[in-house]
Amino acid sequence: MVRHRVSRPWPVLPVGGELLTVAGKAGKRPGMAHVGRDLQARELRERATAAMEQAYAPYSNFHVGAALLGSDGSITEACNVENAAFPAGTCAERAALAAAIARGVRTFQSITIVTSAEVPTPPCGMCRQALIEFSPDLEIVSVTRSGQEARWILSDLLPFAFTPRSLDRTND
Ligand code: THU
Repeated sequence: MVRHRVSRPWPVLPVGGELLTVAGKAGKRPGMAHVGRDLQARELRERATAAMEQAYAPYSNFHVGAALLGSDGSITEACNVENAAFPAGTCAERAALAAAIARGVRTFQSITIVTSAEVPTPPCGMCRQALIEFSPDLEIVSVTRSGQEARWILSDLLPFAFTPRSLDRTND
């Protein structure tokens, strides 16, 4: 599979239309795998968008939804939740990660992020660090409501990451 590594967004079809839940079936027919992937990508966008609409962001007014695609095909979505005590707020990506872990999912294929911004935004540094613990090769798809899209691979966004291996003791 060719992975796109771009820092510049390119246009895709606008988010919208009916809720699609048949990605698995289309993906099983010979030569139809791309259809399954397209449907799955669309479902991820739909789920992230629905989560974004639940965002609690009265302080920044920056609404974020994230849908995590597990290695098992499961989808877990969440939104950002702010707080009057600002540091107590949580990003959508880490909220989705915590919910997925609670479901028993620990490795991930991709995360789709939808925001209220004009251009696609990458995940913040803290979310990159939280996600890289579980899936360094995670594909990150960031979209806007108007249909702009950008993609990255997590390890490209956080090179030389601190990982569980960094805790290995070598001097005693
Ligand atoms: N936010 C996210 O949910 N994800 C990110 O990757 C960047 C920032 C949230 C945190 C805060 O509620 C608002 O967006 C503005 O920073």
